[in-house]
Amino acid sequence: MEDEVGLEKSLRPQYFNQYIGQNKVKEQLEIFIKAAKMREEVLDHVLLFGPPGLGKTTMAFVIANELGVNIKQTAGPAIEKPGDLVAILNELEPGDVLFIDEIHRMPMQVEEILYSAMEDFYIDIMLGAGDGSRSVHLELPPFTLVGATTRAGMLSNPLRARFGISAHMEYYQEEDLEEIVKRTADIFEVEVVEGAALEIALRSRGTPRIANRLLKRVRDFAQIMGDGRVDKAITDKALTILDVDSAGLDYIDQKILKTMIEMYHGGPVGLGTLAVNIAEDRETVEDMYEPYLIQKGFLMRTKQGRQATRRAYEHLGYPYQDEK
Ligand code: ADE
Repeated sequence: MEDEVGLEKSLRPQYFNQYIGQNKVKEQLEIFIKAAKMREEVLDHVLLFGPPGLGKTTMAFVIANELGVNIKQTAGPAIEKPGDLVAILNELEPGDVLFIDEIHRMPMQVEEILYSAMEDFYIDIMLGAGDGSRSVHLELPPFTLVGATTRAGMLSNPLRARFGISAHMEYYQEEDLEEIVKRTADIFEVEVVEGAALEIALRSRGTPRIANRLLKRVRDFAQIMGDGRVDKAITDKALTILDVDSAGLDYIDQKILKTMIEMYHGGPVGLGTLAVNIAEDRETVEDMYEPYLIQKGFLMRTKQGRQATRRAYEHLGYPYQDEK
């Protein structure tokens, strides 16, 4: 049986030439990787930032494959104590990639150990406490840290300063997403009729993870309600049932905008207030929902708070008054 996580892994491109979109990031990284390989040096540490679902983990694996090295994967919240990080660092082979997802969520004491590890490939660990405590010096092999975070602003300055390469992952262009949907459909062996892949792409919030998930759901509808082929009509029907509107806004996107309009006359309203009203974490709203709503021109960030735009009113069918 395939599960969503396993499926996402099987869809992952392995090398740059299979990775669709993010051209700016790819072009830069390809040069840095080639140069590092020519000099027989490790690649400088790489920080990837951008909203969830844009392929940061995939990019980390591609970097390791292109370098021809092993990758070890962990996540900020999983490294609770300095000892957890020491154990991971201790297992690295020369040249390896260490991928830390959600790197902004590491505890401070853990983060501090990373500074010398990144800069000079050593760590000093304190063993024991009080009079009996002593410091142990541990040399590390040279390695490349690839860190991923949803917002660069959440990283402390000393940590951010230790990344030689910083890459901003952007929402995908429609044509790139369409190509990703077609690639995934090929892997699934599902027939996607002309126009349907573009429709899914247009309604996936610029995010491959969402596009692939929607394709899976639309495939279910096609199988039960049609002849198994994914065409535009069945795509439309499925996405409407799934509460994905014509602009690709999902139920929560719509709820955010409707709350602003109905309860706060369109704003300005503070992010915390908004999050409470729609029963989501502040961080989720800020990382997952807001960036897309801003990019599409439905929401603005002002000094006083968040504001729904005229476009949001019109899209959701509310009358807009200019003199508010
Ligand atoms: N599947 C998910 N994201 C992808 C990407 N950027 N390129 C190719 N296939 C993908």
